[in-house]
Amino acid sequence: MNLYCDNYLKTAAESREKMLILAIESSCDDTAAAVLADDRQVLANVISSQFAVHEKYGGIVPELASRCHIEAVWPVAQEALAKAGVSLDEIDLIAATQGPGLVGCLLVGLTFAKSLAMVRQIPCVGVDHLAGHLLAILLEEHKPEFPYTALVVSGGTTSLFTVNSPTEFRLLGRTRDDAAGEAFDKTAKLLGLGCPGGPAVSKLAEQGQADAFTFPRALTDGSLDFSFSGMKTAVVNQVNQFRQQNQPVPVADICASFEQAVADVLVNKTILAAQRCGHNQIALGGGVAANNRLRQQMAARCAEEGLSCFLPSPVFCTDNAAMIALAGFHQFAAGKTIGPDADAFSRSPLN
Ligand code: KG4
Repeated sequence: MNLYCDNYLKTAAESREKMLILAIESSCDDTAAAVLADDRQVLANVISSQFAVHEKYGGIVPELASRCHIEAVWPVAQEALAKAGVSLDEIDLIAATQGPGLVGCLLVGLTFAKSLAMVRQIPCVGVDHLAGHLLAILLEEHKPEFPYTALVVSGGTTSLFTVNSPTEFRLLGRTRDDAAGEAFDKTAKLLGLGCPGGPAVSKLAEQGQADAFTFPRALTDGSLDFSFSGMKTAVVNQVNQFRQQNQPVPVADICASFEQAVADVLVNKTILAAQRCGHNQIALGGGVAANNRLRQQMAARCAEEGLSCFLPSPVFCTDNAAMIALAGFHQFAAGKTIGPDADAFSRSPLN
């Protein structure tokens, strides 16, 4: 911990003040801002979705996303401050997602955060989005102790980590091709279910038979890496077979069987990772962690194996700024602030 952070935290503790963090998240298509008091109390967590802008293109258009962030970032930050009941003058630290993500989008949030910090003469931290997902569970009342095994499963990432402390993460395995969320989104597109695909596939899956089709589970030889491209191709082939034979596609059954295959792989590998590391706690993070089948099956398997399962509320699974504020708080405590020349990064050094 550097002297500046040490002194700040000591002064705050002595005067019983809480440290107030304003965080900005703009890595993809959501503009989010949050206000966090110390490392525990979420005072505001605001998310502005660009869903309506990208819907007609069937996916996120990076250039449009950056422009939307420019329009939204200040109003969203103001809304977060108003909801938290604090003024900008009371904020002690600004945190922003520095990467990974769409660089144009990241630059909007990061530049906004650096400028605000400079004008207010307060410190700024650049946060790795994955660190946010890995720590999001700590925003909950029911949270794990360190170390724990964490699965981050989102639109761009499917990786397993050991979380040793709020700033110490060790990669155990990751996807060799598509992320699980990407596979959900592509399956939804194929079936004409819209974007983002995960929630749409999941809703239809509730009406389908999970054992109607057997989609392939890859790398089941004890590897902690993932691969979803074969599963995705199998879904495409199955759907094409129905279409070529002019038969109605059993969409709900395909959704349920696909979702089951994804959940099987994620649950088995996460349990294996925890057992190999000798951990008795598992935490999930990322948008796909909001999936009901995955949550239920992870909880059930953990109970069978004598492991504790920690699932963030859905709002802390998908992209949000509260998790960025939390990771930022710990990064500041570790002395890792950024200056005005800090750049965004498209790939995470953690992954
Ligand atoms: O974490 P997130 O909001 O953004 C990234 O960092 O990628 O995750 C978005 C991903 C999308 O692929 C979306 O389809 C998926 O999470 N997702 C879901 C569900 N909710 C969101 N996938 C399956 N089931 C859900 N309920």
